[in-house]
Amino acid sequence: MRRLSHTAAKTGASARRTASRETVGAAISRVAGALKSARVYFGHGTDNARDEAAELVFFVAGLGHELGSDAYSVSLTPRRIARIDELLARRIAERRPLAYLTHRAFFAGLQLYVDERVLVPRSPIAELILQRFEPWARARRVRRILDLGTGSGAIALACAMAFPQGKVDAVDVSAPALQVARRNVRRLGLEKRVSVLRSDYFDAVKGRRYDIIVSNPPYVGLAEMRKLPREYRYEPSLGLVSGADGLDSVRAIFAAARRHLSREGILVVEVGNSENALLRAYPRMPFIWPEIAMGGGGVFLLHARDLDLSRLHDMAG
Ligand SMILES: C[S@@+](CC[C@H](N)C(=O)[O-])C[C@H]1O[C@@H](n2cnc3c(N)ncnc32)[C@H](O)[C@@H]1O
Repeated sequence: MRRLSHTAAKTGASARRTASRETVGAAISRVAGALKSARVYFGHGTDNARDEAAELVFFVAGLGHELGSDAYSVSLTPRRIARIDELLARRIAERRPLAYLTHRAFFAGLQLYVDERVLVPRSPIAELILQRFEPWARARRVRRILDLGTGSGAIALACAMAFPQGKVDAVDVSAPALQVARRNVRRLGLEKRVSVLRSDYFDAVKGRRYDIIVSNPPYVGLAEMRKLPREYRYEPSLGLVSGADGLDSVRAIFAAARRHLSREGILVVEVGNSENALLRAYPRMPFIWPEIAMGGGGVFLLHARDLDLSRLHDMAG
């Protein structure tokens, strides 16, 4: 696999690529090789060099991913090759997640606008949404959904698509994040069914009940935060850090979720690597951990009845 370097000596190689009209497939292999050699971290929408390279090249070429390998024989113009090289150089030098360079991310089949005001959407909850949270939710009866800590609006918007009869409240404490969420709601034309609200947890939705409360809240503990790869420094820390053990947000959600759930409602929360800390803190809580085929895990589900405050105390360690 060819390696890309940014020394003057490689200018000739770049010129040769340009002259020979590199194809999309060749560019993907070259970019993947460069990303691998540079040991960038993958974890913001892709988990390997080739997928990230494909996103970079398809983005610059203006091609849809649905074309897949059919697009590999397309020849790239010299301008596009130069643009690919420019983005690749920035990705490697700055360690900035690719989605912040292209300003796009994919979630549950939706294309979303993203920038550094929001986390790059990547929650494994996407898969559960596509399955309409079955068998735990009665999908046909779902009318009201709350996405707590909506960021780009990814989860709220994917829920609105999965439950066409449903209305979604998308809340976040970060005003800058909500600007991005609103932009995505408009892009997808979902203004009638997705309300974007500024809220510190449940503050702005007092008295409202939901059939599904779903959240990918901040859940990184202080020790883990210090060890995260450089790419994470570009994401808003408000979206990542959650107290010493990563569980502050889960505690806040548990304290109020029951009074915002309908009788048959469910709570779905991602806790990622804080799963073990959660199990230690709530040893008797009847968590359900749905299997997620796409990979990633650390998402639990609870029924409303399991969140009665009287029971919560018994379930904490
Ligand atoms: C891990 S990010 C998830 C963003 C988005 N849901 C996603 O999956 O890509 C967590 C989000 O929670 C928001 N947040 C943090 N503290 C909050 C609070 N007290 N109330 C509401 N939202 C909060 C952050 O601003 C951030 O957008």
